[in-house]
Amino acid sequence: METIHAITEGIANAYIVNDKDGVMVVDPGSRGAALAVLDYCNNILGVSPRESIKIVAMTHYHIDHIGGIATLLEHCGPDTMVIATEYARDYMAHKRRLSSMHNWPSCMQTAFCCLKGDVPPAFHSYDSLAGIPDFANLSIPVDQGRFKFYENGFNGTIGFGDWLVLPTPGHTEDSVSFYSPSTMALICGDFILNVEPGSFPRGRINGFHNDYIAIQSSLKTLKENINVAALYPGHGDVVMRQAGSKGSILRSVGGSVGIFS
Ligand SMILES: [Fe+2]
Repeated sequence: METIHAITEGIANAYIVNDKDGVMVVDPGSRGAALAVLDYCNNILGVSPRESIKIVAMTHYHIDHIGGIATLLEHCGPDTMVIATEYARDYMAHKRRLSSMHNWPSCMQTAFCCLKGDVPPAFHSYDSLAGIPDFANLSIPVDQGRFKFYENGFNGTIGFGDWLVLPTPGHTEDSVSFYSPSTMALICGDFILNVEPGSFPRGRINGFHNDYIAIQSSLKTLKENINVAALYPGHGDVVMRQAGSKGSILRSVGGSVGIFS
């Protein structure tokens, strides 16, 4: 049976999807988070990262989500594939600049208010400064031969179980989510967050975004087309549907966290 495991020690959440055919890692995070992913595979799941990690997927090209990807890949086998959008390809080739962002106060809230306890210094180090807007060096030290790039708007299978990649732009132009129709699980990166679990244990679209119209449209499209029983956000706690309920979690997802643009 497929299981999904949240690695929450870093600034952003990393997710490990484990099934009979192997492991998919979504958003390995910083170097420290990537090492925590490897440790979790070895010592909790009892699987060898080198043999089991088939796919490393990125929801979007921000450093807190992908800055440790090279560290993770050092411990993977030669056939481990990285899946990303064409935007990542263009960022690394210096053909496109990262999305500009609004609502920096909301960003700071997002990044820090959901941290649990002390974060070891290792979790704040990265393989490069890729993912920081306007920084000169956007590349990450990863062999691009490992990458499979999806074109803009691609909406289909990624080659791991029945997982689909769904374009969900708005936080950034390259933001995507990953959805499993069989388990109704949605790993959504920074599209929807759950950083206020005390008062809003249901998720809200991210107030730290590039395009508010686009992020609203992404939510509307997903509300109309998929049923979500478990929501795995890039920051904050996992949201699980109440036992006995058949309604989609997305029905109760609210407006932006933080300040509106
Ligand atoms: Fe982000």
